[in-house]
Amino acid sequence: MSTCPIDTRVIRPIRFVAGQCQMLDQRLLPTEEVWHSYKTYEEIADAIRTMVVRGAPAIGVAAAIGVWFGVRDLETQSSQEFYTQLEKICEVLAATRPTAVNLFWALERMKRFAHANLDRSVLELKIGLEYEALAITQEDEMINQTMGRHGEPLIPDGARVLTHCNAGAMATAAYGTALGVIRAAVAAGKKVAVIADETRPFLQGARLTAWELQKENIPVTLICDNMAGFLMSRGEIDCVIVGADRIAANGDVANKIGTYTVAVLAKVHKIPFYVAAPVSTIDLSLADGSLIPIEERDARELTHIKDVQLAPEGIQVRNPAFDITPHDLISAIITEYGVAEGDFSTRLPQLVHQS
Ligand code: MRU
Repeated sequence: MSTCPIDTRVIRPIRFVAGQCQMLDQRLLPTEEVWHSYKTYEEIADAIRTMVVRGAPAIGVAAAIGVWFGVRDLETQSSQEFYTQLEKICEVLAATRPTAVNLFWALERMKRFAHANLDRSVLELKIGLEYEALAITQEDEMINQTMGRHGEPLIPDGARVLTHCNAGAMATAAYGTALGVIRAAVAAGKKVAVIADETRPFLQGARLTAWELQKENIPVTLICDNMAGFLMSRGEIDCVIVGADRIAANGDVANKIGTYTVAVLAKVHKIPFYVAAPVSTIDLSLADGSLIPIEERDARELTHIKDVQLAPEGIQVRNPAFDITPHDLISAIITEYGVAEGDFSTRLPQLVHQS
């Protein structure tokens, strides 16, 4: 098995150690840093479903590794049979989480590679798919750094930047999308202070964004989700930057629940609202955001924090994990191929077709 070199100074949710894939359990951060080892695609599917690993690009990376691990255990010598089995593995991985399109993008890329090489031996296909999974992992980090360079000019020196959820290193192979832009602004010598929404109910902001920015000494202040409007009304926020789980052809953005509320507030207060996402997050097959599938998660995420019950037994709960921010609330979409502003339906296909 190939291994990625480990630079322990770089925050990563997924690493390869002694021939095994390990993932940092994001449910336990920031109080415990526990790495789990994975050997099978079923285990990786479970890690995605249970949010050991989360964040759109990181889910895509994990899914690609899942395919690699799934096919390396196959015993057939027939390439056709190998492809049939690969499709079954992809179905299991695809059934984990519905909203982030990066998952399906990564599975399609793995399938496409295999399909284009069906004249090769099974051994060659296995090696090729290992390289493809590692390429998806390494490319993601480079993509985020490039996205950072494109987005950084939008962040003024001295800016106080609100972010929602975690679109950082922990949501990607490394560096992050929205937090990647902030990292790039800091690297360019700008003073940037981040305001992190706690992001109920899963608390990705309080637990992950706060943790990773603090680790890198980037100034960060935690607020509850319902405080953003007050801070905006007091002139304490200069811009907003978030990631995305899926972007429709017209620029409507699915992202963590609560993003839409922040975007409406930003519009009212005339504060720029930016989205940073790789082009693999853009789904041109969907005309607008109403067509994006929205995951509904377990009621327990709202009624409990760990084992502590907050709400009455048996209470009726809604728990949509994502919402849709309409394109007209978005000032710009930052990708690794450049920044889209204005007419997203013209610009997004141009960016996607450069990839
Ligand atoms: O439910 P999650 O934690 O997987 O949701 C993550 C988000 O909504 C992120 O903002 C999004 O994936 C962008 S990550 C670069």
